[in-house]
Amino acid sequence: MSLNSHTFMTTMEKRVNFTSEDKALLKFHAEWGKAIAPTMADHFYEYLSRDPEMNAIMNAKEGRIHRLRETFIPWFYEMFTGMDEWGNAYADRRWRIGLVHVQIGIGPQHVVPAMATVVNEVSKQLKADGKPEELRDALGRICMIDLAFIEQAYVEVSSAAVLKETGWTEGLFRRLIATGAGSM
Ligand code: HEM
Repeated sequence: MSLNSHTFMTTMEKRVNFTSEDKALLKFHAEWGKAIAPTMADHFYEYLSRDPEMNAIMNAKEGRIHRLRETFIPWFYEMFTGMDEWGNAYADRRWRIGLVHVQIGIGPQHVVPAMATVVNEVSKQLKADGKPEELRDALGRICMIDLAFIEQAYVEVSSAAVLKETGWTEGLFRRLIATGAGSM
């Protein structure tokens, strides 16, 4: 059940229809992405700090807010550069980000609305700066790929932990999940 992040990246690209035109557009606007990244980080952390649960997570460790800012800015810029043409290095980085969130106990209920905030704020900025709608769509698609990585990390880590602990086969595990979902 272990995820191949490189294959996952390719699958997601196809699934969300992230095209070579999207990539070209993002790269063309990479400097703009870099310039607005700190403002996006401000919106993002202001949003997180309004929620008591997420605020507590952010303040649970000394220097965490500072590190979050330091890591958000390159993350945001990487969506525009694609690192290695949105290849293996990009996929590995996104997978790692997913694992970091699983480790800290940040779940889909936190991450999905947080990504919606990024999409929303970047749309507003795009409009204010007179950027094309196609760029908004391309950014929306890459944000959804990044989100899928974080979400999938939960499923993979949780499933792997249960299989390791119990010695169950994947088939049995899947059947138990289907039965459990059916009885809820
Ligand atoms: C759009 C969704 C999100 C993105 C793109 C994002 C981005 C990142 C990145 C790039 C890192 C650094 C990973 C590393 O060290 O390799 C990180 C770490 C972290 N994120 Fe997020 N994040 C998201 C959602 C959230 C949410 C909802 C929270 C809830 C409070 C959160 C809290 C944290 C924390 C606590 C760390 C670890 C900081 C540390 O102690 O080093 N993130 N995030």
